[in-house]
Amino acid sequence: MNPPRSGKKRIKVASIVGARPQFIKAAPLSRALRAVADEILIHTGQHYDDNMSRTFFDELDIPRPDHHLGVGSGSHGLQTGLMLERIETILLSEKPELVLVYGDTNSTLAGAMVAAKLLIPIAHVEAGLRSFNRAMPEEINRIVADHCADLLFCPTRTAVDNLTREGVRRGVHLTGDVMFDAALRFAGLAETRSRVLETLSLRKGAYVLCTVHRAENTDDRSRLGGIVQALRSCGRTVVFPLHPRTRKMLEAWGLDADLSAAPSVRLIEPVGYLDMIQLERNASTILTDSGGVQKEACFYRVPCVTLRNETEWVETVREGWNRLTGPDPEAILRAVENPVVPARAAVSFGDGRAAEAIVRLIHENF
Ligand code: UD1
Ligand code: UDP
Repeated sequence: MNPPRSGKKRIKVASIVGARPQFIKAAPLSRALRAVADEILIHTGQHYDDNMSRTFFDELDIPRPDHHLGVGSGSHGLQTGLMLERIETILLSEKPELVLVYGDTNSTLAGAMVAAKLLIPIAHVEAGLRSFNRAMPEEINRIVADHCADLLFCPTRTAVDNLTREGVRRGVHLTGDVMFDAALRFAGLAETRSRVLETLSLRKGAYVLCTVHRAENTDDRSRLGGIVQALRSCGRTVVFPLHPRTRKMLEAWGLDADLSAAPSVRLIEPVGYLDMIQLERNASTILTDSGGVQKEACFYRVPCVTLRNETEWVETVREGWNRLTGPDPEAILRAVENPVVPARAAVSFGDGRAAEAIVRLIHENF
């Protein structure tokens, strides 16, 4: 990107990341931001396995974190509490003029809360998303982050409308989705670098890709059991990169043996982003409860079946690329057997230059 030209002093921004989708969102934004700002990158350590964290920094060329807080896993209170304490220490010593948070994880919540208490302005990337389901931890995190934020970067028009309904109007900007930027930017690299299809002996268009990690699915035996039943009986090759939470809960509920015994289900470790793009683009259908994966299915024009009862990404459903089935095995099987492929690509996620728009707004506002 060409940096906005002006004689302005460079602003000091502390960006806070911690979980897999935040590394991917930071990939297009962090480099662009460094053209006009001095960025301090703080990794909370919420995700820490190499294949949930380091891989993304390496393959997406994300700048190394300046501070790694090593918080790790725990209950919401423990994890968020440790983050609050450690982020506060860093922000007090670094004295940034702006704190940038992404999405809706506990790392987002902690970053926004510490900055709000220290009276440091906050920018929220992926503001305004709502599932209207307060049982989701992410919904609480988003609401708090949005109501603390000074600059709210909305990926979609729906997100802007959600904020308007909550009386949040100041600092709200429709920028498009940085995940769309990333999906466009890394698709070519994925095509040339990834060998995942060969490694797994997969034929293009001849398998279903599945991801599951939402607490509402993993932590409820009957919901996770419903998904397992659908995967076992769908009669197609299913590639299933297992989030560590899901691996743990399949074992805890005694469902792992059921799944491993199904010859058509390929349980694999979480993959890097480039392999994931290749798996997504060449799948016949994607089954998921992930926010990011729902959108990527839509970006790459692959029919998506969402294993939830609601979605914050309503445009994916409205534009015909996504169907909601929840964990009901019969509904999932019906959706896999009758894929719907709209004639038109999705248009609701911007022009692939959301990162540029966000950097320009930060520059103009500070
Ligand atoms: C978190 C976010 C969720 C996001 C997801 C992206 C919250 C409340 N949830 O969910 O919004 O969609 O990240 O993937 O912030 N674990 C490991 N190794 C790791 C990380 C996690 O083994 O590197 C295991 C631990 O057993 C941990 C569990 O996964 O207890 C859950 O991790 P956690 O970060 O608490 O939540 P996620 O389910 O990953
Ligand atoms: N992803 C990945 N490897 C995997 C699973 C997912 O690179 O094994 C990527 C996926 O392509 C998307 C992001 O991780 O860009 C989504 O993260 P996740 O599903 O963990 O969280 P959510 O988007 O639901 O918050």
